[in-house]
Amino acid sequence: MGLSDQDIVALSGAHTLGRAHRDRSGFDGPWTSDPLKFDNSYFVELVKGDSQGLLKLPTDKALLEDPQFRKYVNLYAKDEEAFFRDYAASHKRLSELGFTQPSLLRLALKKTMIAVVVSATVVIFSYLYEINTRESE
Ligand code: HEM
Repeated sequence: MGLSDQDIVALSGAHTLGRAHRDRSGFDGPWTSDPLKFDNSYFVELVKGDSQGLLKLPTDKALLEDPQFRKYVNLYAKDEEAFFRDYAASHKRLSELGFTQPSLLRLALKKTMIAVVVSATVVIFSYLYEINTRESE
C-alpha cells in the first residue's frame, strides 16, 4: 500500500477514539479512558503497559515490540503536536489511496450464474414432483 512504519503507528492512533464490541469483533472495551476525545492518549496508555479495563489488541502490542514502530510510539506519547501533524498527513495518504472498483462484467456474470442455478433448481424440483404425482396415481 506504500505506507511507512510511521504511517502505521500514526494511523493506529485513531484508536484513541471509539471502542471494540464483543458482538462485532470479539474484542471488548475502549483503548482510552475518554474515547470521545481525539488526543494522544492511545500512545500514553500503550507505553504505560497494562492499563486496567483498557483494550490492547495484538496489533497494538506489536507497536511496542518492534523497535522501528516503538520509536514513533514513544514520540507520540510525549509529543501530542507531533501526533496531530503526522496523523493528518498519514490519514490523507490513506484516504487518497482510493479503492479498486469491482469489474462490472464480473458482477453481471455472478448475477447470471445465480439466476441459472436458481432456475435449474426450480425445474428439477418441478420435474421430481411431477414424476412423484404420476407414480401415485
Ligand atoms: C492494524 C490495523 C487495525 C486493526 C487490526 C484494527 C482493529 C480494530 C478492531 C478489532 C476494532 C473494534 C471493532 C469492534 O469490535 O467494533 C477497531 C475499531 C476502530 N478502529 Fe481500527 N484497526 C486498525 C486500523 C485502524 C485505522 C487505520 C483506523 C483509522 C484511521 C481505525 C479506526 C478505528 C476506530 C475509530 C474504531 C472504533 C469504532 C467504534 O467505536 O465503533 N482502525 N479497530
